Amino acid sequence: MTDTNPIDALRGLETEALAAIAEAPDTEALERARVTFLGRGDGRISTILRGLGRLAPEERPAVGQEANRVKGVVAEALEERKRVFLVPRSTASEDLTLPSRSPWRGGLHPITQAVDEIWHIFRDLGFTRARGPEADTEWYNFEALNTPLDHPAADEQDTLYLVDSVLLRSHTSPVQMRTMEAHEPPIRIIAPGWVYRRDTYDATHSPAFMQVEGLVIDEGVTFVDFKATLAEFARRYWGPDTQVRFRPSFFPFTEPSAEVDVKRIVTGPDGTREETDWLEIMGAGMVDPAVIENAGYDAERYTGWAFGMGPARIAMLKHGVDDLRTFFENDVRFLAEFAT
Ligand code: DAH
Repeated sequence: MTDTNPIDALRGLETEALAAIAEAPDTEALERARVTFLGRGDGRISTILRGLGRLAPEERPAVGQEANRVKGVVAEALEERKRVFLVPRSTASEDLTLPSRSPWRGGLHPITQAVDEIWHIFRDLGFTRARGPEADTEWYNFEALNTPLDHPAADEQDTLYLVDSVLLRSHTSPVQMRTMEAHEPPIRIIAPGWVYRRDTYDATHSPAFMQVEGLVIDEGVTFVDFKATLAEFARRYWGPDTQVRFRPSFFPFTEPSAEVDVKRIVTGPDGTREETDWLEIMGAGMVDPAVIENAGYDAERYTGWAFGMGPARIAMLKHGVDDLRTFFENDVRFLAEFAT
């Protein structure tokens, strides 16, 4: 160091150090390079820094500055090379032609899948898809559907009002009236959508949930069309062995009204075929003539039928899920089970 200009010596060390780092084949070699050049004791750059005191005072600042620069450059090169060794390298036994593992890209929510399956079956039977507003008026939600506001059904549903006579629809049935107003018969529609009720959130209730409405209006539509089409739907959805039962019921907007139940054949754990209990899948009925008249049509000429079902309930029955809330917790591990 006394012979050579210390600045030149530092630049030489820099070149040497960078070459040693670049060529280090593994982390051990890298560590050796670090000790050789930057080691606290007799590291070659550290030694120069320590020897600053022996230089002429006017030389010190320039040499000190250069030594610190070289120290920084070498330290940075060491860090960078270290990162290379952190990335696992393929070993010879790996088959590099194997397809890569792609991350799960997500899937349709089980309730969306149920809505789609229901919709696709009716689409194949000649229905189109319709929709209506989620915020609607008392008229469309109740009165147009032959439900006076003091009727127990209006009360029973415990509706969420927004202002005065505007509410969050408590069922998708208001889409019936909106569709009849906008289109001349023949009407064959499926209207899936969100509905809202002042319900407590529990294993079988949610204050916001999906419904799928269906409506048929035409000349000469009979009770036979009604039963046959819904039975056909049930068999396409649940399987050809499915039995269907129409239980008398009451809805203000249908007369007669029915609740539709299915009995399914399932394969038990030991491979035997077993019948399930009767499971209710929807409310339905022949459209009340008062509803057809409210839409401005001649109820003597036009008849029809309608239904409303809950796809979440249908998804629960299909997948054996007993708590509705698991569908809404958005736990990807649970939802991924339904990925198709
Ligand atoms: N809107 C009824 C409900 O929310 C379901 C329903 C029953 C819809 C009978 C219909 C129907 O269209 O005909 O409980």
